[in-house]
Amino acid sequence: MTVISAPVDFNEEELYVDLRSIVGHALFLKCEGFNFAGSIKLKAAREMVEAAEWSGDLKPGSILIESSSGNLGVALSIIAASKGYGFVCVTDVRCNVSARRAMEALGSQVHVIPQPATNDGLLGARIAYVRALCAADERYVWLNQYANADNWRAHSRTTAPAIARHFPGLDVLFVGAGTTGTLMGCARYFKELRRRVRIVAVDSVGSVTFGGESGRRMIPGLGTSVRPALLNEAYVDDVVVVEETDTIRTCHRLARRGFLFGGSTGTVVSGAGRWLDEHDAHDLTAVAIAPDLGDRYLDTIYHPKWLHEFYGDDVLATDDLTGDLERDLSVNHSDSPAR
Ligand SMILES: Cc1ncc(COP(=O)(O)O)c(C=O)c1O
Repeated sequence: MTVISAPVDFNEEELYVDLRSIVGHALFLKCEGFNFAGSIKLKAAREMVEAAEWSGDLKPGSILIESSSGNLGVALSIIAASKGYGFVCVTDVRCNVSARRAMEALGSQVHVIPQPATNDGLLGARIAYVRALCAADERYVWLNQYANADNWRAHSRTTAPAIARHFPGLDVLFVGAGTTGTLMGCARYFKELRRRVRIVAVDSVGSVTFGGESGRRMIPGLGTSVRPALLNEAYVDDVVVVEETDTIRTCHRLARRGFLFGGSTGTVVSGAGRWLDEHDAHDLTAVAIAPDLGDRYLDTIYHPKWLHEFYGDDVLATDDLTGDLERDLSVNHSDSPAR
């Protein structure tokens, strides 16, 4: 039995899905969505809040403010509610309605930015708004997940050691890149320990993080319109960039097997599958990180009307899915995990 008195005290750190029957490689998906925030961002939120309290920047009467596409906002709402701080989440039109509702239910204020900034996209506009509020009232405390080292420290202290403990023979780790907190925390942990683990970043087409052209991205979580300050590419061995249509197909493929994951998980699994197909991956043990679950995406990725509006009729052609499913089910399940 687990008994807690604060919502941050529970986080499932030990759960992996064996994806061999779906991607045809020894790929284990670390599930980070089983906590009260429903996502991996609970770890970053907790680490950043506790560090700000420790430094004295955050104190009774402070109001947290943060730019978030949803998940960090929900995590900070939970922490703010449980500790008695105010919280303003600055987001944009891509934020899921359910994430917004969750933040409001937890007592936070949500400000939705409707228009991108001229050069820096929606993210630039969100950050400009946060800066303006902080300049106007000194009670505001901006943790700034894009540049805060405690964002990546959360993962070098928790996520990466947990993976290393269960997969001592790990060869490749696939991590989606948003702020790059998860990526940099895991990469720093394995590189600094001199473990020969290849770190593969997974990003979305339309993101500028690894030097790509800025373009339309409808799925929140991964990708940026401003290069994240936390990113140090020296720690990254390879980058895979995934089209949103492939993300969507992968999400639906996982869902048809009973695993309803969030959009960024579809991106990471799609990118990991492609990387493993293109490399001699027979004997490799690989882990990918699933940042959240699918319930926040029922009105978008899992909604036919939304898919039709943004990606047209063919994105989920029934034949494709049926073909994928038949192929998945014909994969030999008999191998034992290659740990
Ligand atoms: C669903 C989802 N996936 C992935 C990420 C990216 O994580 P990070 O910011 O650590 O790069 C986020 C970040 O908000 C997210 O919400």
